[in-house]
Amino acid sequence: MDHASAPDQTPEPATSAFERLGGEARVRELVDRFYDLMELELRFAHLRSLHPPELDGSRDKLFWFLCGWLGGPGHYEARFGHPRLRARHLPYPIASRERDDWLLCMAQAMHDIGVPEALLDRLLGAFHGTADWMRNRPDA
Ligand code: HEM
Repeated sequence: MDHASAPDQTPEPATSAFERLGGEARVRELVDRFYDLMELELRFAHLRSLHPPELDGSRDKLFWFLCGWLGGPGHYEARFGHPRLRARHLPYPIASRERDDWLLCMAQAMHDIGVPEALLDRLLGAFHGTADWMRNRPDA
């Protein structure tokens, strides 16, 4: 083994979750499935009721945000600046129930579009951290 050559090699950059998921087209697919489920499934009716009547704007915003959050292009920041996600969610009552509904809807969406299990589990853990931090009301 030539010890002298190793330190000169540039390390491979870590692959982002954005790339592993399959880039923008797959993030769009995920967001569309997430909001389709919210519209279609009775168990998400409460979550749906917190959202505006038209979901087109919500779809675009979550898509732009997730691209950056997953390690891809910062579309959301380019349009709106710092996400301030917790502050932006303060108008919506979010307790454990809303957190869990959101996570269930996202888990189902990831499953439905065929996100590989290991990546799904990893992302769900990261989503859980963010959703938990978003709670802004005590549990009933
Ligand atoms: C914890 C439960 C959550 C609930 C109940 C919830 C609910 C909502 C609602 C009602 C809106 C407004 C939609 C609109 O203005 O069109 C919204 C916006 C948004 N949500 Fe959530 N959300 C939750 C968690 C999350 C999580 C975990 C993320 C990201 C990982 C997220 C990302 C966003 C983004 C990027 C927006 C758009 C913000 C803006 O620019 O106005 N949300 N959410």
